[in-house]
Amino acid sequence: MAGSTGSFIGGGILVLLLAGWLGQKYGLPPPPPKIAGIDLGTTYSSIGIYHAVTGETIILADDLGKKSIPSVVAFLPNGTVIVGSRAVEQQEHNPKRTIYDAKRFIGRNFERDNKDFLADQKRYPFKITLDPNGRAFFEIPLDEGTKYVYPEEIGAIIINYLKSAAAKHLGAVLGQVVISCPAEFNEKQRNFTGIAAEIAEMEVRRVISEPTAAALAYGLHKKQGVENVVVVDLGGGTLDVSVLWLQGGVFVTQAMAGNNRLGGQDFNERVQKHLIEKISEKFEKTIDDKEDIQQIRLEVEKGKIRLTNVPSTTISLNLKTVGKWSYELTREEFEKLNEDLLKSIELPIAAALEDAKKSANYGVDPELAVVTGASVQAGVIGGGWPLQVAAMELPAKRRKRHFFTEQQKENEQDRAAATEL
Ligand SMILES: *[C@@H]1O[C@H](CO)[C@@H](O)[C@H](O)[C@H]1NC(C)=O
Ligand SMILES: *[C@@H]1O[C@H](CO)[C@@H](O)[C@H](O)[C@H]1NC(C)=O
Repeated sequence: MAGSTGSFIGGGILVLLLAGWLGQKYGLPPPPPKIAGIDLGTTYSSIGIYHAVTGETIILADDLGKKSIPSVVAFLPNGTVIVGSRAVEQQEHNPKRTIYDAKRFIGRNFERDNKDFLADQKRYPFKITLDPNGRAFFEIPLDEGTKYVYPEEIGAIIINYLKSAAAKHLGAVLGQVVISCPAEFNEKQRNFTGIAAEIAEMEVRRVISEPTAAALAYGLHKKQGVENVVVVDLGGGTLDVSVLWLQGGVFVTQAMAGNNRLGGQDFNERVQKHLIEKISEKFEKTIDDKEDIQQIRLEVEKGKIRLTNVPSTTISLNLKTVGKWSYELTREEFEKLNEDLLKSIELPIAAALEDAKKSANYGVDPELAVVTGASVQAGVIGGGWPLQVAAMELPAKRRKRHFFTEQQKENEQDRAAATEL
């Protein structure tokens, strides 16, 4: 459930809007369209186009029929590159060469003793290193030697995959793009997001903020009396809260808050840990096999998504260490395991509203956000909701306020204590 709203926004709606927005802004020539809208997300990415003649916005699927492509790139020992769902499928057999979360590192420089970076180095199964300028890159062991890949190059591989998928549908290559990025991205991060598209041989028409895109996708710029919008985007790895002020067709970011280290993955990890404890108890064995852990990770993610629609679901595993084992996970238990994480979402919402000196009564109800989005999408698929978007955005001059969960604070204290010793 936690991931569902986020990935919904991140995985589809954003592209609807980008494509629609760019169609309006640049007045696309009759088909085939030349400009794509791309949402390069931390966990999922998508591509869409806008047909100027029909006013239709279309999200394009890859050859597996997926409109949300996992932002995962894998390398085989012989150098073959695999993207999206295929990369996820082989992840458990190839953890050192399967790169995900690359967006977290794009356009950033780190000090060698940066605590967050050192924690990330431990956390990911693949190798991340800093170059002499403090830029992070991935080290991938191949038959021919080590391959060095920068985050924007991973982004480019994903963009290229989306571009090829679109080309198959359209019979023509899309050469230009409007691409989205988090509201808090600074100039350098936006620049490298653009560079990712350029490496994929696309001309960047604009880099647009995700909350603005989401607000546009929900049609909020056209609603009578809407002046302020709160966008809560709980994605795979990050929580972003933005308060936007809509004035004369221009979105101005009033306040930003969030937690860069909180997302669907954290909710998964809680469940994963819980399952591993149950298994260890039952079989009196330690579960530390990398492939086993990867399998648990994938099945937990699938189970979580199923819990969006059903109150209870079975997680079935077949592990190297203990063989077959299954567990009935209820929504109630999921919420209990994640109680503090769910609670921690409220802090940045309150802070952003306070910063924007507003009250909470016009906030987007997360329960309704999905159905609202679904209706919008239905309207678009039915051709009944041509996106004639006039809204623009002004870059944020505000700083994003960061909030941490209780557990993150404890970890931080533990690390600090360890350093002092
Ligand atoms: C690389 O390895 C994969 C898996 O073993 C194989 O399917 C593929 O054909 C190989 N590609 C090349 C270019 O040798
Ligand atoms: C990135 O920044 C460089 C240096 O300022 C600039 O030359 C380049 O055009 C920028 N690229 C994009 C895609 O923004």
